Amino acid sequence: MPLNKKIRELKEKREKVLLGGGEQAIEKQKAMGKRTARERIMTLLDDDSFNEYDLFVEHDARDFDMDKKSLPSDGVIIGTGTIYGAPVAVFAQDFTVAGGSLGLMHSRKITKIMDHALKMKMPLIGINDSGGARIQEGVNSLAGYGEIFFRNTISSGVIPQISVILGPCAGGAVYSPALTDFVFVVDNISKMFITGPEVIKTVLGEEISMEDLGGAKVHSETSGNAHFFARSEEECFDQIKKLITFIPWNNQQKARMFDPGEPRPEYDVEKVVPVDPTMPYDVKDVIRAVGDNSDFFEIMEHYAKNIVIGFGRMGGRTTGFVANQPLEMAGVLDVDSSDKAARFIRYCDAFNIPIITFVDVPGYLPGVDQEHSGVIRHGAKVLYAYSEATVPKLTVILRKAYGGGYIAMSSRHLRADFVFAWPTAEIAVMGPEGAANIIFRKEIMSSDDPDSVRRQKVEEYKAKFANPYVAASRGYVDAVIEPAETRKFLLHSIAVSENKEIQTPPKKHGLPPF
Ligand code: HXC
Repeated sequence: MPLNKKIRELKEKREKVLLGGGEQAIEKQKAMGKRTARERIMTLLDDDSFNEYDLFVEHDARDFDMDKKSLPSDGVIIGTGTIYGAPVAVFAQDFTVAGGSLGLMHSRKITKIMDHALKMKMPLIGINDSGGARIQEGVNSLAGYGEIFFRNTISSGVIPQISVILGPCAGGAVYSPALTDFVFVVDNISKMFITGPEVIKTVLGEEISMEDLGGAKVHSETSGNAHFFARSEEECFDQIKKLITFIPWNNQQKARMFDPGEPRPEYDVEKVVPVDPTMPYDVKDVIRAVGDNSDFFEIMEHYAKNIVIGFGRMGGRTTGFVANQPLEMAGVLDVDSSDKAARFIRYCDAFNIPIITFVDVPGYLPGVDQEHSGVIRHGAKVLYAYSEATVPKLTVILRKAYGGGYIAMSSRHLRADFVFAWPTAEIAVMGPEGAANIIFRKEIMSSDDPDSVRRQKVEEYKAKFANPYVAASRGYVDAVIEPAETRKFLLHSIAVSENKEIQTPPKKHGLPPF
């Protein structure tokens, strides 16, 4: 057969497979506001950069009439490409083919691209849109999931792993995204749950819609399973592309440098933080006032808002920011904010990203609810994550740094490399009111005018401890700086930390308080 005929044959074969589950199924997909799996990949990757593999892979299941069914590409597209020139490995489940359900060959395609990503040390992006384990393939489907989970775990901390939920992601299937670094969801499209509404109705007699059970908002605001929320697929892909610019391709590298630009003039660091420690302010404005171009890419924006995490740049170098948020519960640490911060700190540490911490924390949240929810165990994660992190750690104490919160928020004692404090900082065991009430109780109670004695004692306590100078006199704070000097000090600290190297005792692994 002449070559051009062979080529025509290949093209015809390709065209047939590229139709996926057929026009009707594609129409149904579009009617739900969803793109097809290939359209998604094309939107995400640089133009003409996608190389697809295993186009012609098919299942060989026999049961339940499967031998009569052709499932093009076995319902999943895999390949490699680039995003702004960065190499990435991608898989996208094709819901138009048997609901994107995962059979043996489907799982082998996914694990093949996962193996490539790990071997070539490039980020992995998985687009999930699937009815879960392919019921007709029984235990082979379960085996497939197990193989994926194992690879997610082995790759963790070596290459960035990103999960995008663009349809159902049900049953045990949710555990692959849960094992990855970042989960992206889209309003009205993402559905993520272990057991669906029908099972819940049968077993518990409760009625709930899929959206209320495991929609994008639920996972972004309540469960904390998702890191990025978007209103459309388009916005979601833009978020992924932006994330890729901030992270390195693997744990052996640093993130790419960008041309640094000064913060925008509308963010005036001197005007953001009120001196009165009871007045709230938006700590994101502090981050924007010191970071390159005032560009701050927030992660988990809608969950545990009392702590803020995300990426920015300092002098062109990607930097992780962690900051208490006085706008929300006075910036207190609790179960959820501890989880949120600790995981992010470990991410930055695994991928060579320096961490800047802005502190304004009244301590850990008191109360029965928090105690019974395990604030001891969860709070300990922050201590563990900061202590363990060997990347450059820079701390700026803006206002309150009380009690356990002071220690936990990247203090000198957990081996912060540079600790700066503004003159408004108050570093103490607890707030002046609480402290005065305890240590001067007898004097206050036995006086004729307890209120005025209390006020006087609070003032005495404030004068002695509610400032940065006691900590500075012990060297716990390296420099008390003017707010306007913050960027200069941080840029310098990042620059001199470029080659930081420390030795830790050999061990198989530690035991963080999971
Ligand atoms: C085989 C499946 C399938 C599955 C969907 N399909 N899920 N085929 N195995 N798990 C097929 C349907 O039969 C249908 O085929 C096509 O995909 C589209 O599905 P629809 O139901 O028509 O779509 P829709 O109405 O949009 O509903 C989507 C859905 C629903 C909510 C996801 O399909 C559903 O509930 N599926 C089952 C979900 C589930 O329980 N999965 C198993 C979870 S247990 P045709 O040929 O009619 O077009 C699990 C264990 C994993 O995953 C454990 C790992 C540790």
